[in-house]
Amino acid sequence: MNILIIGSGGREHALAWQCAKDDKVNTIYIAPGNAGTTLENKCENIALDTDNHQAVIEFCQNNAVDMIIVGPEAPLVAGLVDDCRAAGIPTWGPSKYCAQLEGSKTFAKEFMEAANVPTAGYEAFTEAAAAKAYVDTHGAPIVVKADGLAAGKGVIVAETVADAHAAIDDMLADNKFGAAGSRVVIEQFLTGEEASFICMIDGENILPMATSQDHKRAYEGDKGPNTGGMGAYSPAPVVTDAVYDKVIERVIRPVVEQMKAAGHPYTGFLYAGLMIDDAGDPYVIEFNCRFGDPETQPILMRLNTSLVALIEQGLAGKLPESADWDPRPALGIVLASKGYPETSSKGDVITGLPELDHTEEDPTIKVFHAGTKTAADDAHIVTDGGRVLCVTALGETIFDAQQAALQTVASIRFDGAQYRRDIGYQAIARQN
Ligand code: AMP
Ligand code: GLY
Repeated sequence: MNILIIGSGGREHALAWQCAKDDKVNTIYIAPGNAGTTLENKCENIALDTDNHQAVIEFCQNNAVDMIIVGPEAPLVAGLVDDCRAAGIPTWGPSKYCAQLEGSKTFAKEFMEAANVPTAGYEAFTEAAAAKAYVDTHGAPIVVKADGLAAGKGVIVAETVADAHAAIDDMLADNKFGAAGSRVVIEQFLTGEEASFICMIDGENILPMATSQDHKRAYEGDKGPNTGGMGAYSPAPVVTDAVYDKVIERVIRPVVEQMKAAGHPYTGFLYAGLMIDDAGDPYVIEFNCRFGDPETQPILMRLNTSLVALIEQGLAGKLPESADWDPRPALGIVLASKGYPETSSKGDVITGLPELDHTEEDPTIKVFHAGTKTAADDAHIVTDGGRVLCVTALGETIFDAQQAALQTVASIRFDGAQYRRDIGYQAIARQN
């Protein structure tokens, strides 16, 4: 069979790498992919305007594509799944309606209220004065969020009332996030430990992926601005069996039922970003309508079941209850380009990447590419901005996995590379 994967990040590299392991797969097209996916067995990068849904459909028809997997949120929010399915192409991801769970924070909040899903108290505003008055009443710390898609960067955790006012001005008055910030959601500050809970859903059945946790802040000790994610690991010890059951019961199952009741059964990956409080009760910080990046990289490193088979079962409404996971933890460290997340540098030459053969010889290390491309002279790989690589390792313990990833990270060089040495610190502390 042939597969089309939409996207260019580390998540898509990991999805492609997993799909390639299945013997029945012939060719995996990735639009647009990155320098890492071009090196992967069975994989071929293609240039395709994925905003043009008709062009995607025609590509699939002309290239005997049997299945589309949509990686990132933007095409999901734009309704690519609806259009490809209407053209008869099996497509894995949520519909445009369901993708609003990520595409609009206001939609997500109202949906959670209706479905009784625990989340922070909030109010939505389009006027700066009213938003600031709300902040004055509630005090700090408080959280200010752009309503629309902002690549994980439209969230300000304000430590002071003045910071919250400034964030409101940035979003509503100065238009820092464009249309995505023309409405803001202001919500109560939650405390506890975060975890990512990602499932496959086929409209009815839920197949939870292995648990995981990412680090969204740019700097060590979870300091600095929010990013798309600077590293992740799986499993997340904070998600004990008791917490796991509560998440299914209080969060995932209600979403599935509420979507069904609305006439829009949820299909695809669903990501609940959670805060687990001291009592072990989960609160939803956000929903994403896709697999997480970088969570995908360590999670898929541990998946022993064929991802293609699982997606086929998902498309048929027959997801199994569980998959087979490597018991060893996996941990991924992101190397980002200079200036990320505020600015981004491109075109810096990357050296010291382990040869692909080498990583196949040592299946406990895998370098997933994100913002990389092959230089015009074809001789080397250069950075293409943002998050560049995610070095992912399996280990006997989470500490071993961290050390193994760090060792490979140390051999990779590009101008201005930045990464965190402390990915997984909370899990390591729990273990010690
Ligand atoms: P989001 O993009 O909504 O996941 O927010 C990005 C990050 O901001 C989260 O991973 C949290 O670390 C933090 N955050 C968002 N909302 C809250 C909240 N209500 N309370 C505390 N931290 C939050
Ligand atoms: N790692 C967070 C996300 O994928 O949104």
